[in-house]
Amino acid sequence: EDAIRQELGSLHGIPLFKSFIEGWPQVKAFQAHPDDLLISTYPKSGTTWLSEIMDMIYHNGNVEKCRRDAIYNRVPFLEMKVSKGPSGVEQLEKTPSPRLVKTHLPVQLLPTSFWEKDCKIIYMARNPKDVVISYYFFHQMAKIHPDPGTKAEFLENFMAGKVAYGSWYDHVRGWWEEKQEKKILYLFYEDMKKVMLGWRGMSPGHPPASFFGSLLMSITLQDPRREVQKILQFLGKELAEGTVERILHHTSFQEMKKNPAANYETMLPTLMDHSLSPFLRKGISGDWKNHFTVAQNEHFNQHYQERMAGSDLHFQMEV
Ligand code: PPS
Repeated sequence: EDAIRQELGSLHGIPLFKSFIEGWPQVKAFQAHPDDLLISTYPKSGTTWLSEIMDMIYHNGNVEKCRRDAIYNRVPFLEMKVSKGPSGVEQLEKTPSPRLVKTHLPVQLLPTSFWEKDCKIIYMARNPKDVVISYYFFHQMAKIHPDPGTKAEFLENFMAGKVAYGSWYDHVRGWWEEKQEKKILYLFYEDMKKVMLGWRGMSPGHPPASFFGSLLMSITLQDPRREVQKILQFLGKELAEGTVERILHHTSFQEMKKNPAANYETMLPTLMDHSLSPFLRKGISGDWKNHFTVAQNEHFNQHYQERMAGSDLHFQMEV
C-alpha cells in the first residue's frame, strides 16, 4: 500500500504530486463557466467544511440532496489526477452548471479562464499552526503524500515551503493581495469556528448555568451565521432564516463527521486510512497547543513575523 506514496515534483517552483503535474496541461487549459464558483484554500484550511456549506446553500438547505454523492464528487478537485479514475477536469466536464470547484492552487497558477470569465471565488484561510498539525496527520492517512517524517521535521519542511502546494505564507498572501482587484471573498476558519468558544469547558448537553456563560454563548453563536450571511451577500442570494440554521447544523463538525457523504470514509482504503487518523480529525482551533513544544512555538512565531511582515493580513492564533 505504501507504493502509492508519491515524491513531490515541481510545478513552476511549487512542490506538487508528480501525477498532478502530469495532468497539468489539462488543468491549465480548463474552460471555466461564468457561473462556476471556485473554493480556494491552502490544504487543511476548511475546504471540505466550506464545500458542504456551499452545496447546502446551492440546494437551499436540502439535506437529502446534499447526500446525493460524496463531497469530493459534488465539489470536484480541479487539479486532482491519480492513475486510476477520472481526473478533476474530467469530473468537472460531466458536472452540470452551476458548478462548485475546489482548488488548492496558489493564485499565480490558477487557470486564466477563471479570471477571463470573472468567476466568483471564495478563499478560506486558517491559522498556520493548526494547518501544519492537520497537514501532518493528513500525511499519515492520505497515502498520496510523501512520508512526513517526525513532527519536528514536518514543521521545518512546512516553514520552508517544502510540502505539497509550497509555502503557506505565499499562498495566503498571494490570494489576499489578489482580493483587491478581483471578486474574491476571503474568509477565516477561526471566524466560522467561534461558536465553540462558548461551549469549551462545559459538559456536553448541559447549557451554561451562569449569566456570563449564556451571554458568551449568545455572542459567539452569532459568528458562523454572520459568515454564512457574508457568503449569501457575495452570491446575491437570500435564504429563509430557518434555512441558515439548518445549514449550520448540517455542516457542524459532529454532523459532518458522521455523514458518509462528507467524511471521506467512502474513499478507497488504499488512498485514505482513517484508522491512522480520521479525515475529520478534531475540527477545532488551537489544537497546535497540544503538539508544539515551547521552543518550536517561539521559533515558529519568529518565522511567522518575518514572513508576514508588511502585510495587513492577520491571523488569530490564540482563539
Ligand atoms: S483538504 O484535504 O485540504 O481538502 O482538507 P480540508 O477540508 O481543507 O481541512 C480538513 C480540516 O478541516 C476540519 N473540518 C472541520 N472543522 C470544523 N468544522 C467542520 N464542519 C469541519 N469539517 C472539516 C477537519 O477536521 C480538518 O482539520 P483537523 O484540525 O485536522 O481536525
